[in-house]
Amino acid sequence: MHFLSDNAAPAHPRILNALVEMNAAHAPPYGADGLTQEAEKALERLFDADVRAFLVSTGTAANALALAALVKPHGAVLVHEEAHVNVDECGAPEFFTAGAKLIPLPGSHGKLAPETIEAALARFHHGEHQVLPQAVSISNPTEMGCLYGPEEVQALAEVAHRHGLKLHMDGARLANAVAALDCEADALVRGVDVLSLGSSKGGTIHAEAVIFFDTALAVDFPRMRKRAGQLMAKMRYPAAQLLEWLKDDLWLDLAAHANAMARLLAARLDDFAAIELAAPVQTNMVFAWMPRRLQVALGEEGALFHVWREEEERVMVRLACSWMTAEEEIEALASAVALHGG
Ligand SMILES: Cc1ncc(COP(=O)(O)O)c(C=O)c1O
Repeated sequence: MHFLSDNAAPAHPRILNALVEMNAAHAPPYGADGLTQEAEKALERLFDADVRAFLVSTGTAANALALAALVKPHGAVLVHEEAHVNVDECGAPEFFTAGAKLIPLPGSHGKLAPETIEAALARFHHGEHQVLPQAVSISNPTEMGCLYGPEEVQALAEVAHRHGLKLHMDGARLANAVAALDCEADALVRGVDVLSLGSSKGGTIHAEAVIFFDTALAVDFPRMRKRAGQLMAKMRYPAAQLLEWLKDDLWLDLAAHANAMARLLAARLDDFAAIELAAPVQTNMVFAWMPRRLQVALGEEGALFHVWREEEERVMVRLACSWMTAEEEIEALASAVALHGG
């Protein structure tokens, strides 16, 4: 009953095979090899645009460096208050931007609304006494597994651009969003200036990318990445993984499976009176309230998941599905809930 994180799932066997196959010869280091160039081209094709792609090893590095390319030290980034950049990156965005301010904003299920951006920007009218908002950052899917559809992304881009701000998207789980919406990847990033594209949660090992749709913004990025210790000498290894991940839509098949398992899990949990779903289940995450005694009992039965929020009598848990989640694990969890009076 592994529902702790999609990061806890192993790498997909096809990814490991791809690594074994490419591991036979010498190649130029630091991204000057053929595989890295191929991976960059594959990303270009995926987004059907004249993009510039840079491989990095973690989602945090991707986000922090992407934001650093968008804002000055006296700048600001409007973010959701629960965004990974705001709560789970140990100040990396502030560090890499040399001190830019993150402005946390509310919104249901991790989503920012255009009106919220407008209202926040209206508070910046005090000239040099205030930081300068220069970017909006959204996560798609959000940290609560919820989605912005293409039109919602474009509406946020419109507000941001009208006020002279850039739009960053944290796509640590973009595969789950594209699979869930059954749209083209490029449709979902229309209006986005810089994307952090994750693949580690979807079956690879430390293969992430920063993708610039506005290539003028990427001018200094090669040195920024090096300075951050992210110019990987053996870049061909993450590159080979990304190539295999994108080949024959493996990335979408794995994400679609994780999403389907989350839907099944939600349906099974929703049958129990003691459990209340806390957010719409749109991708691979299920958030649910349950009595604390049930959460403790499930833990004792060996179920692994995160406690997201705590109240005196009840807790909100996060159950994450991955490419490896099996129906049997979901049935085992449902049986455990039934056993403990769900
Ligand atoms: C939405 C989101 N963005 C970014 C990250 C950062 O990824 P990493 O842990 O590789 O730095 C995570 C990781 O959990 C995440 O959930």
